[in-house]
Amino acid sequence: MAATGNRQILLVETPKGKLGPEHFKLTQAQMPSPTDGDALLRVRYISLDAANRAWMQGATYREAVVGGSVMAGGAIAEVVESKAPGLAAGDLVFADTGWQEFVALPGKRLTKLPKVEPLTHLLSVYGIAGLTAYFGLLNIAEPKAGETVVVSAAAGSVGSLVGQIAKIKGCRAVGIAGGRQKCDWLVKDLGFDAAVDYKGGNLFKELKEAAPKGIDVYFDNVGGDILEACLFQMNTGGRISCCGAISAYDGAAPPAGPRGVPGLIVVKRLTMKGFIVMDFFREREKAIADLASWVAAGKLKVEEDVIDGLENTPAALIGLLAGENRGKRMVKVA
Ligand SMILES: NC(=O)c1ccc[n+]([C@@H]2O[C@H](COP(=O)([O-])OP(=O)(O)OC[C@H]3O[C@@H](n4cnc5c(N)ncnc54)[C@H](OP(=O)(O)O)[C@@H]3O)[C@@H](O)[C@H]2O)c1
Repeated sequence: MAATGNRQILLVETPKGKLGPEHFKLTQAQMPSPTDGDALLRVRYISLDAANRAWMQGATYREAVVGGSVMAGGAIAEVVESKAPGLAAGDLVFADTGWQEFVALPGKRLTKLPKVEPLTHLLSVYGIAGLTAYFGLLNIAEPKAGETVVVSAAAGSVGSLVGQIAKIKGCRAVGIAGGRQKCDWLVKDLGFDAAVDYKGGNLFKELKEAAPKGIDVYFDNVGGDILEACLFQMNTGGRISCCGAISAYDGAAPPAGPRGVPGLIVVKRLTMKGFIVMDFFREREKAIADLASWVAAGKLKVEEDVIDGLENTPAALIGLLAGENRGKRMVKVA
């Protein structure tokens, strides 16, 4: 094998405020070697996720990432050498490899992947992002044709797919995103019916214009003020799919909760339901078949934002939290 060392990115310490480059360090470690039951993996594409930042704040649906450890992160990786049953050199897997070039992991922690073109779709539409959009919208919020679906972080990896799936299901799709350019892209390129710039200073009023019949389904990626604005415009019997809370990830103490909870939930008979995509993994084959058929039919456009080089991973995550990305951001390592 040509490589002699293993470049890694460590989280130096838990950030107390905003995430910055000073919280990461690039180091060189020994090449790992697999023991019985392990596979040695070469990391190909690392997924950048808003949740990476939430993992630094404490235990979530996974253990916290602590200072001094390799930064955690999911990736597509290629098996270089296998001592794990059912895996051979050249196989592709999805795993929590962390931000590094090579890792040896037990076979039972690896999910074998099909060979798909382009490979990057395994992190976007056929990966966590696509499945989160699919299950979070269809299984949690159950939109019906003719209803109005609003999604926040709408130009991001999950949100851009949620709005398009809402359209496929015959709904009015309204996106909320930062900046006029992103909003125009959602409407002109992705077919959303309307998009609202939450940074423009008129969120409540513009949302009312974009959803004149009120909101039946709100797919919440951000929490905070945007959740509050949507709560006040929900229709009776509306459903809120709680997917994430980006507005609370990258800072010190999160702000107090939105007004309207629980009063509006009671009066409007709303349902707010959280989920973690893994809850639905047993149904993923049907979801992937549906997503693939929509991609093939040209009904679902997949936007990917690929950054080159492991050393650029910290800046790529900081940029994602600041709204630099359109669609699914990932880093090409090899
Ligand atoms: N429940 C699950 O199983 C599950 C699985 C995967 C992801 N998620 C959640 O899905 C959401 C999307 O995450 P992602 O990784 O796909 O990232 P993403 O949407 O591709 O990128 C994050 C976007 O969030 C927006 N944003 C940042 N700060 C914001 C703020 N304070 N208010 C409003 N928008 C803000 C930025 O766009 P703008 O330019 O529009 O600000 C940025 O581009 C996250 O909440 C994540 O936790 C949940």
